[in-house]
Amino acid sequence: MKLNIAIDGPSAAGKSTIARRLARECDYIHLDTGAMYRCIAYKALNQGVALDDEAALGSLIDQTEIRLTPQGQVFLDGEEMKDKIRSDAVSMAASQVSSWKIVRQKLVERQQKMARDKGVVMDGRDIGTVVLPDAEIKIFLTASPQARAQRRFLENQQKGISSDYQQLVAEIAQRDKQDTERVNSPLRQAEDAVGIDTSEMTIDEVVAAIQRLVEEKMKEG
Ligand code: DC
Repeated sequence: MKLNIAIDGPSAAGKSTIARRLARECDYIHLDTGAMYRCIAYKALNQGVALDDEAALGSLIDQTEIRLTPQGQVFLDGEEMKDKIRSDAVSMAASQVSSWKIVRQKLVERQQKMARDKGVVMDGRDIGTVVLPDAEIKIFLTASPQARAQRRFLENQQKGISSDYQQLVAEIAQRDKQDTERVNSPLRQAEDAVGIDTSEMTIDEVVAAIQRLVEEKMKEG
């Protein structure tokens, strides 16, 4: 029996890292839905499509192919994105484009198709509430803004990108505000989600805690 696992939470709470590891441990497929919003934001920035033009963003999506591979690669119209969609500019733009109803409807539809056969660990902001309300396991990951900024800072350092810690804290706070206050599918914990504060936890500990929940669910049948 395979389950669907929804992992939601604010930016830089460790969702993608945890989801990737969990998928590997369970032999499931990891789908990073944030990467899809990032691809649309990246393409809009490159093509000069205004981030507040909902209709134009909707047409842009119709002309866009996004492919997420089980190995974690992201292809936008056949081109592998790697770190191109991970810049701060694309992060902020992704948060903006994701506030539009048409953008969400179109991407959610694609995400639901991807999870049809189960055995998926999907991470995002609205997976437990909107995309996969019937997911057998729902996790809401949080961490303090300081812990999240610190992780981003170290991640950037490893990639050779220099960043300012205080600026990262401010950007994270701004994205939290945008993601939780937007009208369409704001970030919120599903009623049946298990909340995990990862501020003081290692990745291994978080993955192990979720695996225990998966095992319990499998025993229930
Ligand atoms: O998880 P991330 O940082 O890669 O996501 C980038 C942006 O996309 C984030 O600011 C909010 C948005 N997003 C969303 O609205 N819904 C999702 N399911 C995933 C991401």
